[in-house]
Amino acid sequence: MNEIRPIQWDDGILKLIDQTRLPAEQVIVEINDYRGAVAAIRDMQVRGAPAIGVTAAYAVVMAATELDVEDRQTFMSELREAGSEINAARPTAVNLQWAVRRMLEVAEGQQEFAGVKQALLAEARLVQEEDEEINRRMGSNGQDLMPDGGAVLTHCNTGALATSAFGTALGVIRAGWESGRRFKVFNTETRPFLQGARLTSWEFQQLGIPATLIVDSAAGIMMQRGQITCVITGADRIAANGDTANKIGTYSLAVLARENGIPFYVAAPTSTVDLSLASGDEIEIEERSGLEVTHFQGTPTAPVGVEAVNPAFDVTPQKYISAIITESAVARPPYLESLKLAVESA
Ligand code: MRU
Repeated sequence: MNEIRPIQWDDGILKLIDQTRLPAEQVIVEINDYRGAVAAIRDMQVRGAPAIGVTAAYAVVMAATELDVEDRQTFMSELREAGSEINAARPTAVNLQWAVRRMLEVAEGQQEFAGVKQALLAEARLVQEEDEEINRRMGSNGQDLMPDGGAVLTHCNTGALATSAFGTALGVIRAGWESGRRFKVFNTETRPFLQGARLTSWEFQQLGIPATLIVDSAAGIMMQRGQITCVITGADRIAANGDTANKIGTYSLAVLARENGIPFYVAAPTSTVDLSLASGDEIEIEERSGLEVTHFQGTPTAPVGVEAVNPAFDVTPQKYISAIITESAVARPPYLESLKLAVESA
């Protein structure tokens, strides 16, 4: 099987698998300026916290390339401005701001101004390469949690498409499967954008892992009937106390899992942990257009003129989370200590 790599840098051009078109069509969008990258993140042609981070890193490279200034101070101030624009593309996934900050630090720390653009490109490549390596480490750290003979439920898309390769929660499922464990996989549709139906189902097919699609609201009855052994999701931002923002519907799954005595796991790189936030109350939740709820790919699915609200994420309080799988450790409650340790040892 060829590994899915949704982001490619090809001689100054950023090539993305257009995730709005899958699974019907496999189309590559070519982006050659940073504002194009901002639009691709905002319009979710590329999505998933780590993939957004990698794209943001290349966006900073493009912004630097577009700057035609000789003076270092002016260069830095214009690059910082572009960085703020990139940061604003989507608010919840902290990997976006994390990547932009990392890139700006490289630009600031570069001794020879003449080499700054090259240094930025090298750093963006590193962000991308490290992400795959981190995901694979997360996979081996979490694979023992996958239930041989049981059934795993996952939400949204956390696979290769959401990262540079391999995936986070889906990567743990994959690592469990590749280690020889055999279990059923269920994945939700993930209304309204259908990351689960469109992207996760497609990825499991590519991987040859049998997976069964359910509507989001079927999770309760499946758990009640004993058809689910554990739940695993990704994360967009994790506060210092372990409260976790992830795709809308995650909170409901976690509460249902607790009610039914089922472990609920989160898999995320330490770059998703935001130790500057004490709790999930401080996490900004992206509100997307109501049109995503009333329409699917331009076709109305609700009466014309109906009002809709569309929070794209929710926060799962840490008390519902059995473990947080990172690349450095499997953190367990109390998260205030274990997450800090995981971040420090990464
Ligand atoms: O709105 P999206 O599709 O970017 O949301 C993605 C998720 O919520 C994922 O679960 C999260 O980013 C973890 S991805 C590895």
